[in-house]
Amino acid sequence: MKFTQTLLSFLISCVAVSNTLSLFGGDQHVLDDEKLTVPGDNPLKYCRDEDHLLDIYKVDLDPNPPLAGKTLTIKAHGNFTEDVEEGAYIILEVHYGLIRLISQTTDLCEQMKNVDEECPLSGEKTITKEVELPKAIPPGDYKVKADVFTKEKKAVVCLEAAVHFGSGKL
Ligand SMILES: *[C@@H]1O[C@H](CO)[C@@H](O)[C@H](O)[C@H]1NC(C)=O
Repeated sequence: MKFTQTLLSFLISCVAVSNTLSLFGGDQHVLDDEKLTVPGDNPLKYCRDEDHLLDIYKVDLDPNPPLAGKTLTIKAHGNFTEDVEEGAYIILEVHYGLIRLISQTTDLCEQMKNVDEECPLSGEKTITKEVELPKAIPPGDYKVKADVFTKEKKAVVCLEAAVHFGSGKL
């Protein structure tokens, strides 16, 4: 399903590069909500305030927010503080309004091939990905959540985003 693929590529690219709250929030007073904000020009938030293996330095989307029918360019920069091996997985959930569109578990290493990366994932990574967003995305509010774990169920990162797609007449 093409739409699923698009959402997946979008998330993978974001997730592919995730997270440093303490590094960036270290010397300033940060509100709880801001603490969960992912640095850069993006609609992403961490799902939880917790330790994770992927430190996200920055994720930039162009355009932000994404537009139906336009090419979305995703640039992400982060650091895997521990190696992530084969067997890591993503629990992906997509809600459209109140309806749960997608709820599935996919293989992280398999998905990373879409951004020309292979497991084991380690150290600093910069990823750029262009995604063609279909024109026919049904307008409305989408909530996307990707929770990533190693084979041993250690948290790699969890990100969520709320994205609104308009009717195309905006
Ligand atoms: C990435 O993480 C590793 C392991 O924690 C650390 O040794 C390294 O300095 C980090 N790289 C950067 C650029 O921060």
